[in-house]
Amino acid sequence: MGEKRFETKVIHSGYKSDEFRGSLAPPLFQTSTFTFDTAEQGERRFAGEEEGFIYSRLGNPTVAMLEERMATIEKGEKALAFGSGMAAVSAILVALTRTGDHILCSQGVYGCTFGLLQLMKEKYAINHDFSMMSTREEVLAAITHETRVIYIETPINPTMRLVDLEMVADVAKEKGIPVVVDNTFSSPYLQNPLELGCDFVIHSATKYICGHGDVIAGVAVGPKEIMTKISMTTQKDIGGVISPFDAWLLLRGLKTLPVRMDRHCDNAEKLAAYLSDHPAVEEVIFPGDPKHPDYAIAKKQMRKPGGLISFNIKGGQKEAQAFINKLKLIKIAVSLGDAETLIQHPATMTHAVVPKEAREKMGIKDNMLRLSVGLEAWEDIRDDLEAAFEAVRKESTMETGSI
Ligand SMILES: Cc1ncc(COP(=O)(O)O)c(C=O)c1O
Repeated sequence: MGEKRFETKVIHSGYKSDEFRGSLAPPLFQTSTFTFDTAEQGERRFAGEEEGFIYSRLGNPTVAMLEERMATIEKGEKALAFGSGMAAVSAILVALTRTGDHILCSQGVYGCTFGLLQLMKEKYAINHDFSMMSTREEVLAAITHETRVIYIETPINPTMRLVDLEMVADVAKEKGIPVVVDNTFSSPYLQNPLELGCDFVIHSATKYICGHGDVIAGVAVGPKEIMTKISMTTQKDIGGVISPFDAWLLLRGLKTLPVRMDRHCDNAEKLAAYLSDHPAVEEVIFPGDPKHPDYAIAKKQMRKPGGLISFNIKGGQKEAQAFINKLKLIKIAVSLGDAETLIQHPATMTHAVVPKEAREKMGIKDNMLRLSVGLEAWEDIRDDLEAAFEAVRKESTMETGSI
């Protein structure tokens, strides 16, 4: 039998029921520590001379199952699970840099990643620059002698611009710089950066990997040697590890990732078309739209264009907030990738920490809304949007007295 397909791997990889008394579901090892038979066994485990668990911050069987499954589906050598997406982002960036280094970053990242880059700059003199990375020349021009990491989000949160991963990885290889990709918006089902030549993949597993809005977690995947070193140093000593129960929930969530993603993507495609035609909408930014500036990149590197839509409503912050206040089925919340459709206002929520000038450079306008399309019937989501547009229209008609 050849290698199993993605849909099979998310269910079976990393777990062998015959090793656990036939239990169909992976067992939850909800324990902080592990007992040793003898003092000498404890000594051998600490010395790395004998395999086995020691203490759950250093490793746990349920967490190890999740890590193996994630490494398999991201097509990497070794995965590490963390207590949040930001714990994964910070562990990788801290592990790959030192004082005086430079990080080249895509033009736009999640607000807290932006905050972390600021912190690294202010406290440890690790500088960064942003680049659209549209062409080889643009990437080459932005690389300095000190660049030690190229850090990319694609699609970028929340501007939905894309970066050509194969092209950047090719340039980075020539220069010997590792490429780190935050793959949260795509999930491993839609995009596999390691297959495109990148070196590390990070997920906020809080999102599509969990899929049910009940876990905060992160995962990073990369080369075995470096990831092992990170697990024994940065991860162990800074300590942002995942709880066994959260790892267990993620193992469960992963089983349905492909079916959920297909539905998220189908719903998003229909809703993007609906929003594009709406007179109250100025612009829809969705990688599946042939008018999207990076449509060709989406076609090339993503299996489907994803479940997130950003759109600029006509007006400004006031109009954007008034609109989302009228929604009933769609919930106002940050986060994404859940069964429930969620909407948020990036300028005052996820990217409020980014100064206005930097936000505008990234393309985050005050009238932008980000919609994480859920698994409900798409017609019900559309009806909720339509009712809110209509309610806002009626209110503004009453205010201005116009018909
Ligand atoms: C693209 C992206 N990366 C990282 C994170 C951080 O993940 P977490 O909230 O799990 O720490 C988020 C959170 O929204 C995100 O959207």
